[in-house]
Amino acid sequence: MTAALVDGKAFASGLRARIAEAVPAFVAAAGRAPGLAVVIVGDDPASHVYVRAKGRATREAGMESFEHRLPAHAPQADLLNLVEALNADPAVDGILVQLPLPRHMDEAAVIAAIDPDKDVDGFHVVNAGRLAVGAPGMVPCTPLGCLMLLKDRLGDLTGLDAVVIGRSNIVGKPMAQLLIAESCTVTVAHSRTRNLPDLVARADIVVAAVGRPEMIKGEWLKHGATVIDVGINRVPGEEEGKTRLVGDVDFASAAAVAGAITPVPGGVGPMTIAVLLRNTLVAAHARAG
Ligand code: GUN
Repeated sequence: MTAALVDGKAFASGLRARIAEAVPAFVAAAGRAPGLAVVIVGDDPASHVYVRAKGRATREAGMESFEHRLPAHAPQADLLNLVEALNADPAVDGILVQLPLPRHMDEAAVIAAIDPDKDVDGFHVVNAGRLAVGAPGMVPCTPLGCLMLLKDRLGDLTGLDAVVIGRSNIVGKPMAQLLIAESCTVTVAHSRTRNLPDLVARADIVVAAVGRPEMIKGEWLKHGATVIDVGINRVPGEEEGKTRLVGDVDFASAAAVAGAITPVPGGVGPMTIAVLLRNTLVAAHARAG
């Protein structure tokens, strides 16, 4: 392996410490802690693990965590009523509705009901629009975390060639917008792209967010490229009945060619919660004026 490891876990822990240091000034000025409300519908075990982790991190940063649980069969109107109540609650600065929602619910309608200024996920179309035109707004946590890691590693990104693999509203599209704003030359590739290896071969920056285990191979990479792997895929492990986590990048071959690469786990994953706390503090300051 020749690539440097991009230690997202360490970066995220530093960011969380800096946020925790900044919270008391908000408390002193506003007379209350920043508040994050997390809503979970149903009993998906993985979602409950994420939500517990978010609540713990929120409290550790000195913020207030409000957790709301609705049963899997709750009518969508109950969720919309809850979102309305959180929109109106002055103690709540950020609202996160954990996805995916049960199939009888319309995710777009639920996200649209969140006050854009409390939308700490940055999923509301108003925030997507603000990002697209370069106006201040809430930026989705995972791509913003990726950008922080890239700037920490590379400094000024001006003029660099970036390939974003994946076009989701949550990662790929906002990632492309963020890189354009940093004056990168951005190509967005996806599952229907032709000649992906040729595109990747030109890239100084590769952000992989396709959700296909170990799809991007080291042989495709430009020597010294910086590789950010957003993928978290569970695949069968070596031992019978065991599984392991892998990214969208074939780590072993990529680490032999890249200049720097994020590991999975321990790369992008820990950044998401740290940026969620950052977005909550930003939302709290914006609301407090
Ligand atoms: N489910 C998995 N990741 C996320 C996230 O970042 N935000 C929300 N709301 N749901 C998720």
